[in-house]
Amino acid sequence: MSEPRASAGPKPAVARAESPESRPSESKTRVAAQRAAAARPRGRPDAMHRAQLLAWAPVLFQAAWVLRERGLLRELIARVAQGASVDELATATDTSPYGVTVLLEAGLATDLVVQQEGRFRPTALAYLVERDPMTRANMNFVQDVCYRAMGHLGEAIASGKPAGLAELGPWSTVYAGLAELGEPARTSWLEFDHFYSDDSFPLVLPQVFSSRPARVLDVGGNTGKFALACLGYDPDVRITVADLPGQLESCRREVEQAGDGRRVSYHPVDLLALDAALPAGHDVIWMSQFLCCFSEVEVVHILRLARSVMGPATRLLIMDNFWDRQQTRAAEVVLQAASLYFTCVANGNSRLYDSGTLRRCVERAGLEIVDERHGVGLGHSLLECRGAPGAATGAAPGGR
Ligand SMILES: C[S@@+](CC[C@H](N)C(=O)[O-])C[C@H]1O[C@@H](n2cnc3c(N)ncnc32)[C@H](O)[C@@H]1O
Repeated sequence: MSEPRASAGPKPAVARAESPESRPSESKTRVAAQRAAAARPRGRPDAMHRAQLLAWAPVLFQAAWVLRERGLLRELIARVAQGASVDELATATDTSPYGVTVLLEAGLATDLVVQQEGRFRPTALAYLVERDPMTRANMNFVQDVCYRAMGHLGEAIASGKPAGLAELGPWSTVYAGLAELGEPARTSWLEFDHFYSDDSFPLVLPQVFSSRPARVLDVGGNTGKFALACLGYDPDVRITVADLPGQLESCRREVEQAGDGRRVSYHPVDLLALDAALPAGHDVIWMSQFLCCFSEVEVVHILRLARSVMGPATRLLIMDNFWDRQQTRAAEVVLQAASLYFTCVANGNSRLYDSGTLRRCVERAGLEIVDERHGVGLGHSLLECRGAPGAATGAAPGGR
């Protein structure tokens, strides 16, 4: 079970331990040991050190999570100038001194805190865990969506099924259950998903609208964020959102709440169903953070469905994150790790692709990439595709 999000917890039942400062006989040795520890060079961990961080990663992750959720990191940051003692943190966060001690010592192991003369201070890492929006979105997603599920990873690999999803609900894929996902998993799922795409939408809208499309089809439109962004960008454009029926209802609610339903229509569809089809007559087909939800064979199938409703002037825009196109190792790590969510929770057979794999899928579907941009927002790539010459064409949409 997740720890409660609020930092207030029940009063500790254990008696307060004597504070380290109140035991002078030990203090000299302790201070000397602490100084030595603080002075130890803290460069890149060696292989054995990394092996132990990996061996204990799930335990240390939970410690960081509780340090954040009980407000200990917040209090450490508030007291950064003078440092904080165990007792001060215990009082400020309504946590037992024993609890504070073990959490802080785990924080020493992960370099979240440093200790000097009985007082603890936050490191740069602590600031990121407490305040960095990406780290928060990722940690919430890992805790609320992935953590328990990941115990089933071996089974997911062996079966090709999202074996961990049973920890969240009885669905065959996470998408079938998105509309019914319980809390806090649903909020963390949506915040994770939106975190990466929200920043990129404004950056790509000029390219989406460069051909002045009259009609845009958003495939996998989720909660309608892109549809709403398009309506705000262009006063005349009409949007069709295609998604699974349950998710489409959430989308309709969001769009109607925003008061802009007249220019939006909905196309309920399971794109993996045998009779699945996409609606014709759109100038732009948009797929954002969507193809990563499908296996390579399914990606080709879906792209062929799109291809079949594209005329010579129809533009297909694909926005996704490719781990081989990231500018930092941190961004690569996020994508390489997040792939396992698809393996174990989402559907058992998809991943966050590298750019070469997706390019091959595009070509196999009878499309060609006519333009590509990388490094959009927090590491998105934008591929603009057209029907490849010689490949079958579908109905030609109208422009304006
Ligand atoms: C990761 S979300 C993408 C959200 C959004 N496009 C964005 O950029 O934030 C994937 C979307 O694909 C939809 N989806 C998944 N499987 C589908 C299927 N078989 N048919 C239609 N839509 C599907 C999900 O319901 C979800 O809305």
